[in-house]
Amino acid sequence: MPSKILVVDDDSASIEAASEVLEREGYDLFAASGGREALETLAAEDIDVVITDEKMPDLSGIDLLKHIKDNYPYTQVIILTGYGSIDSAVQATRAGADGYLEKPIQINILRQTTKNALEKRSLFLQNVNLREQLDDKFGFANIIGTSKPMQEVFRMIRLVAPTNATVLIRGESGVGKELIANALHNHSRRKDKPYRTINCGALYRELLESELFGHERGAFTGATTRKLGLFEQANGGTLLLDEVGEMGPETQVKFLRVLEGQEFTRLGGDKPIKTDVRIVAATNADLEDSIKNGKFRTDLYHRINRFPIRVPPLRERRADIPLLASAFIKEFSREHERSISGITPQAMDYLKNAAWDGNIRELRNVIETAIILAQRETLDLGDFSSEFQTSFADSEIDSDPDTQMGIPVGLDTPDNQESSVDTESDKVGTVGMTMEDIEKEAIRKTLAETGNNKKRAAEMLGIGLRTLYRKLESYGWLNKGDPEDDLSE
Ligand SMILES: Nc1ncnc2c1ncn2[C@@H]1O[C@H](COP(=O)(O)OP(=O)(O)OP(=O)(O)O)[C@@H](O)[C@H]1O
Ligand SMILES: [Mg+2]
Repeated sequence: MPSKILVVDDDSASIEAASEVLEREGYDLFAASGGREALETLAAEDIDVVITDEKMPDLSGIDLLKHIKDNYPYTQVIILTGYGSIDSAVQATRAGADGYLEKPIQINILRQTTKNALEKRSLFLQNVNLREQLDDKFGFANIIGTSKPMQEVFRMIRLVAPTNATVLIRGESGVGKELIANALHNHSRRKDKPYRTINCGALYRELLESELFGHERGAFTGATTRKLGLFEQANGGTLLLDEVGEMGPETQVKFLRVLEGQEFTRLGGDKPIKTDVRIVAATNADLEDSIKNGKFRTDLYHRINRFPIRVPPLRERRADIPLLASAFIKEFSREHERSISGITPQAMDYLKNAAWDGNIRELRNVIETAIILAQRETLDLGDFSSEFQTSFADSEIDSDPDTQMGIPVGLDTPDNQESSVDTESDKVGTVGMTMEDIEKEAIRKTLAETGNNKKRAAEMLGIGLRTLYRKLESYGWLNKGDPEDDLSE
């Protein structure tokens, strides 16, 4: 496919001359007579290089350049400057132009500059692809996850991070919303600028507003000096508004004003202040519900919900558990100076099937505690909290740790995990076990196999769902509040 070049100039003779030269090079040429028209073409076509005049009646070349870099970060921009105007060439380069051309355009320089820009673009894209491939192996940035739902989250981050769009990150407590907000900043063009966060649920109204908007001296009792708010501190960068659903109605109005005009006033001040802050909001609340209850403004909701990223709870992506567990074992083993190198299949089984209402935060905590309590180099069922032991300890058929082979950290991809669990426990055999223990063990394994899907497990075991529940209850294995515990079907 030929590369697409857009030439923007209000002088049609110069467009034609440049277009002719480049068309002869085999490129696909587009023309726009001004900035606005250029924006339309950019929205409709995947343009590789834009060559734009510096001065145009409707939008300056530099403004167009900024818009392009914010919205199409991989598109290269070449600025046309007046003859001998080194100043504007410098200004263009500072603003992020990938090259500049002096007027009148010399044909060979036009060819060469365009070629350079295209080469730079393809190098850039290759790097991005390479990075993506590396990231995809174990996760994105420091966010671990290879499951389908997390791949979708990473795709959204990649798409939306380079833009200035407001992003709303949604998901239960402990799913990693803050990590994702961080990744959005680090993958944006603002990454070298400030990144600030504030928890809207933790502060009462006056304090929250003075944190956000700052205040003038004497704005209220105790305001002895002027203070810059986060909207000013984060200028050029990103501000995470965590628990945005907790923001009170008055603050919501002021916040909406900032979003719409990028303008606000300090408390006790009357001078409107301009700011350029990219907003990321996060919430674990049901905002739709808050709207119904009159707690959250509909207009604000629509304004921040343009690019929602939903982070799935851990129970919807159990495939990520082995990788997360291994990473946390390594991390806490180092932190607490323990030499824990793996986890037994039985313990990993538990981790894979637990409810994880507290999501990844809970998994981290459980593993940290286990690392601290661990008796040996391989984490075992007994190293986990007592809550866990009552669920599974009595189903442990081989309690002698020396005969249990652990899963070494780092090798436990979800695939080889499955197989090692089965072969290991099958070696043990059933000789000498009571019938009740055998039954328990069959139920435990089948639940592990079905990802704790009780309906499927009951089918595989050839018993009714109610019978399975009665048995689970008698073993003390039923989690209260487990969403799958629905007997109506
Ligand atoms: N995919 C992941 N890979 C590695 N660590 C993770 C991942 N997701 C979350 N964590 C870790 O889990 C913990 C909780 O994550 P985080 O604070 O981002 O959750 P949250 O969604 O903001 O929760 P809350 O709503 O309670 O504020 C953090 O220590 C974080 O580093
Ligand atoms: Mg959080």
